[in-house]
Amino acid sequence: MAKILTEYVCQNCGHRAPKWLGKCPECEAWSTLAEEKIKGTGSNQKVSSGSVDNKAVQSVTKVEALTQNRLITGIGEFDRTLGGGLVEGSLVLIGGDPGVGKSTLLLQSMGKMAKTGAKVLYVSGEESPAQIKLRAERLGVLSDNLLICSEICIEDVLRVVEQVQPDALVMDSIQTFFTVDLQSAPGSIGQVREVTFKIFQNVKKRSLPALLIGHITKDGAIAGPKSLEHIVDTVIYFEGEKGHSYRILRAVKNRFGSTPEIGVFEMHSGGLVGVENPSDIFLSERPVDSPGSIIVSSMEGSRPLLVEVQALVTASSSIGMPRRMSAGFDHNRTSLLVAIMEKRLELNLQGEDIFINIAGGLKITEPAVDMGVAVAIAGSFRNQKVDPHTVMIGEIGLTGEVRSVMQLEVRLTEAERLGFKRCIIPHSVREGKLFDKKSSLSLVPVRTLSEAFDAVF
Ligand code: TYD
Ligand code: MG
Repeated sequence: MAKILTEYVCQNCGHRAPKWLGKCPECEAWSTLAEEKIKGTGSNQKVSSGSVDNKAVQSVTKVEALTQNRLITGIGEFDRTLGGGLVEGSLVLIGGDPGVGKSTLLLQSMGKMAKTGAKVLYVSGEESPAQIKLRAERLGVLSDNLLICSEICIEDVLRVVEQVQPDALVMDSIQTFFTVDLQSAPGSIGQVREVTFKIFQNVKKRSLPALLIGHITKDGAIAGPKSLEHIVDTVIYFEGEKGHSYRILRAVKNRFGSTPEIGVFEMHSGGLVGVENPSDIFLSERPVDSPGSIIVSSMEGSRPLLVEVQALVTASSSIGMPRRMSAGFDHNRTSLLVAIMEKRLELNLQGEDIFINIAGGLKITEPAVDMGVAVAIAGSFRNQKVDPHTVMIGEIGLTGEVRSVMQLEVRLTEAERLGFKRCIIPHSVREGKLFDKKSSLSLVPVRTLSEAFDAVF
């Protein structure tokens, strides 16, 4: 076998070095050099014939249509996040903190699929076959079609795939595999990327769906910084707060799905259980009649979630340096809302510590919850309660105006389903359609944050 030559390439500036260096001599960034095969060696080799064959270019109307066969995994919330099942030949990356439940999710869902007759190959570089069996027993998914393999050399894994011809492949985790083409250790950027690329080529050739598990590094990226995200078809993050049993599966990229959907689970002793009506759960423990607690609506994919925002405003003990902390809500957005309230509503929040919490360990990024957050802060500051049957929906602009949000009707339907009586909504909503609807909800359109305060306090 010819010796394959590798070099180290800076992922930041592209500088090439013959050996590994801690710091790139060109851009001076640390730990950015990754091992790569030198072009023209090994399997990268491709000799140009000088002419392009006719098949390389064709009219888009002549291209053969792709039939998207989807495999149903047996866990509804997982299928929903995938956009309606696992597409044949797709490469899915599941990222998450260690211990959040990635292996459990995949063993449980693929195990269920195996029970319905599909042949699933579960390759683990982290656990022994005996450990996996123990877990599969606990999850109740033992089946002859669930094949376990603990091999960490990707070339060997692909040979096994060739032999068994599975209907689905799981690799747990991508950081434990290595290719013989590179000398660096498993888990390094170069290895992770090269291994993923090899799997990618293989699954596309076979129309085999493959699920890769990836651990998240401390700075929040799936190791092999972001470099995997553009190779794979679907990127899903599995999130969960320590101390909560809820887990959220969030698709951040999906070539086979229209909206970034989420799936909600609860972790039990017998594995993950899908939560069909997450709003019910997120609202179940809410205190009624407490200042600083507000119900808001956040669209998560195609699903409206009603969640509780809690704010606590107390006089700051450190002069000039009040604390601003938020869990589950963007910190900068909190500062912005506080600034708007100080300027437009003359609320003197300067000497106050402000804490925001989204109950249930959920993370919300939607601006439609702005109005609720602002009212929660003001409520806690003034020690004033808001009627517990009120939902607040609206984005706040810099002049204190309430701006419209998308999919208001879906949100209102959910609020009605859960028995809420009143919704504070943006004024700009075209009234006709909404107000005609026979609904038990009374809608209060507001133009500004100040009008919203008048409506609730
Ligand atoms: P695991 O799937 O091993 O996490 P990851 O692969 O993301 O590192 O999940 C580990 C946690 O899940 C562990 O703390 C125990 C818990 N767990 C349950 O609560 N119930 C179960 O049925 C299983 C299998 C795990
Ligand atoms: Mg694991």
